[in-house]
Amino acid sequence: MDQRPVASAEGGSPESSYAREASDRAGDPNREAVIRVRNLEVGFGEKIIMKGLDLDVYRGEILGFVGASGMGKSVLTRTILGLVRKTQGTIEVFGEDLDDLGPETRRAVERRWGVLFQQGALFSSLTVKQNIQVPMREYLNMSERLLDELAMLKIEMVGLKADAADKYPSDLSGGMIKRAALARALALDPEIVFLDEPTSGLDPIGAGEFDDLIATLQKTLGLTVFMVTHDLDSLHSVCDRIAALGEGRIIAQGPIEAMLASDNAWVKAYFHGKRARAVMDER
Ligand SMILES: Nc1ncnc2c1ncn2[C@@H]1O[C@H](COP(=O)(O)OP(=O)(O)OP(=O)(O)O)[C@@H](O)[C@H]1O
Ligand SMILES: [Mg+2]
Repeated sequence: MDQRPVASAEGGSPESSYAREASDRAGDPNREAVIRVRNLEVGFGEKIIMKGLDLDVYRGEILGFVGASGMGKSVLTRTILGLVRKTQGTIEVFGEDLDDLGPETRRAVERRWGVLFQQGALFSSLTVKQNIQVPMREYLNMSERLLDELAMLKIEMVGLKADAADKYPSDLSGGMIKRAALARALALDPEIVFLDEPTSGLDPIGAGEFDDLIATLQKTLGLTVFMVTHDLDSLHSVCDRIAALGEGRIIAQGPIEAMLASDNAWVKAYFHGKRARAVMDER
């Protein structure tokens, strides 16, 4: 069921060229780490979720973040965003240690990232347009007319029809909700977007289209993308690098080839399992 139709691999599809450019970008020695996590420890009460975790995310890359369910992928994402407290370690974003920032500089950093949460992607009481305008109203001071124009631009950018603007989340399909949530994540023209399982719950064609959208936006907007995903197709087709979380730290990282060559038992099972083979056979 994770297998996607081969249609996306036909007729000079962008998929293969994404993968090629992806591996080119992954090899750049001058890359700048826009997120640098060192010796991170996070726990809830007695329960340690991660310990001694180091991770770099480089400017302009799409990093796929994998790990067994419940390992702490969402917790790590939320810790970087400052929504979960760490017990130890440092997190630098754009070269700034987040612990050192006062409220104003913190706000300035937050304005440079956008988030698509795993749960509760949109406010159900607001229309798509109003949802997209939430961060705009919080951070930008502009007229209603301009807010409307900007929101419509984002709606178009993510491939939604203009008439989606005045719909409520309950009137949208799962795929449309993901796109609307992506539009909101892009509301402030961020440099980094955090996507927590953006294609989960989508059918294979919808997931493939969403991957293409992310890859296109990454390229045209020069985004850095931190993407938590279970989707093997996404990992193969759009991610420059992959990092795997296990036992509270990064157990393997690198381009897909590095993951395929990893000796770690979980990584091996994940990338060489039955579903993984089905994806490989399509290529
Ligand atoms: N606020 C919290 N308080 C206590 N425990 C929490 C809290 N948030 C998360 N956890 C626990 O932290 C662990 C990691 O959760 P997390 O949601 O990060 O997993 P995940 O890797 O994202 O899983 P999935 O792939 O299913 O989304 C889980 O055991 C979860 O129950
Ligand atoms: Mg999660």
